[in-house]
Amino acid sequence: MKILVTGGLGFIGSHTVVELQNKGFEVVIVDNLSNSSLDVIEGITAITGKKPLFENLDLRDKTRLRAFFEKHQNIIGVIHFAASKAVGESVGNPLLYYENNINALVYLLQELQKKEQAHFIFSSSCTVYGQAEKMPITEDAPVVKAMSPYGNTKQIGEEIIQDVAKVSNINSILLRYFNPIGAHPTAAIGELPLGVPQNLVPFITQTAIGLRQELSVFGNDYPTPDGTAIRDYIHVVDLAKAHVVALERLVHKQNAEKVEVFNLGTGTGSSVLEVIKAFEKVSNTQLPYKIVDRREGDVTQAYADTTKANKVLGWKTESSLEDALASAWKWEQKIRK
Ligand code: UD1
Repeated sequence: MKILVTGGLGFIGSHTVVELQNKGFEVVIVDNLSNSSLDVIEGITAITGKKPLFENLDLRDKTRLRAFFEKHQNIIGVIHFAASKAVGESVGNPLLYYENNINALVYLLQELQKKEQAHFIFSSSCTVYGQAEKMPITEDAPVVKAMSPYGNTKQIGEEIIQDVAKVSNINSILLRYFNPIGAHPTAAIGELPLGVPQNLVPFITQTAIGLRQELSVFGNDYPTPDGTAIRDYIHVVDLAKAHVVALERLVHKQNAEKVEVFNLGTGTGSSVLEVIKAFEKVSNTQLPYKIVDRREGDVTQAYADTTKANKVLGWKTESSLEDALASAWKWEQKIRK
């Protein structure tokens, strides 16, 4: 069973390719290398013993995308990761985000619509909930106006998929990720942020290894027990496994609706200070940090209600926050060697 993984050399994509190959799926990766490296193919091959097919293709190139689908007619499912994901950059360059994230999605769906049936998994984000009123966040919490063009592309993407489902044979699952962190336990693949990391965990590991002077903790005046903001940090391998389960659900026609939505998190919230403490413990280091102002656009807290994913998908996370941080640290040490 051949599966197309777009953005398959990226952080979550590469870990998902590993889990797909471990389950016997044949994978073809499409990636434009805009935020990834060809070395990732070696990492995937080292872990699984199998080299995935790869094409360097930009999904906005409609003509080449059509030719790609003509060549790979036996693709039965698509997991679509390829997208730009930096919130700040999207505020500065909204059209880049709308062009890249929306056009690519539309062109992909146009190709899938030609098929008798298709299975489609979409990378969405808990950002669609904004600051949800109730914790933990269930899938029926309202989707609120996005705070950034990046967040808006996730909302619009979900709506496009809902609309297309009504007139096509495309069955889809929208996966709303909380905060993916960590790396493969072998340290053969992991996160490779371009430039200064915007996300907490890569910033922590780069500080611990000496690449950054100190971590800035964005705000300690939130209405939380220790004053710092709370998120649901999920090990990327657990997240990757959920994609395989979701795909199998579609392939075996177990889905209850043409478009289903699942939150993917651990169900536990951790504050920034708790993450720092857990990191210091697993790495046996002391992390230099200072408290600074809040970062614009950040919510106070977001953690998932995992009931639906646990019950309906039969999936649950296996790794702890400490496991995830230890794997991120192992990866950082390996790539700086
Ligand atoms: C961010 C995006 C989210 C996106 C996700 C992708 C924003 C507002 N949200 O999530 O839409 O889907 O990345 O990975 O950018 N923190 C610090 N110091 C740092 C970095 C982060 O204190 O140097 C804090 C943040 O204030 C936040 C927590 O750590 O409370 C997590 O931040 P981050 O890793 O950037 O993720 P999100 O902001 O939750």
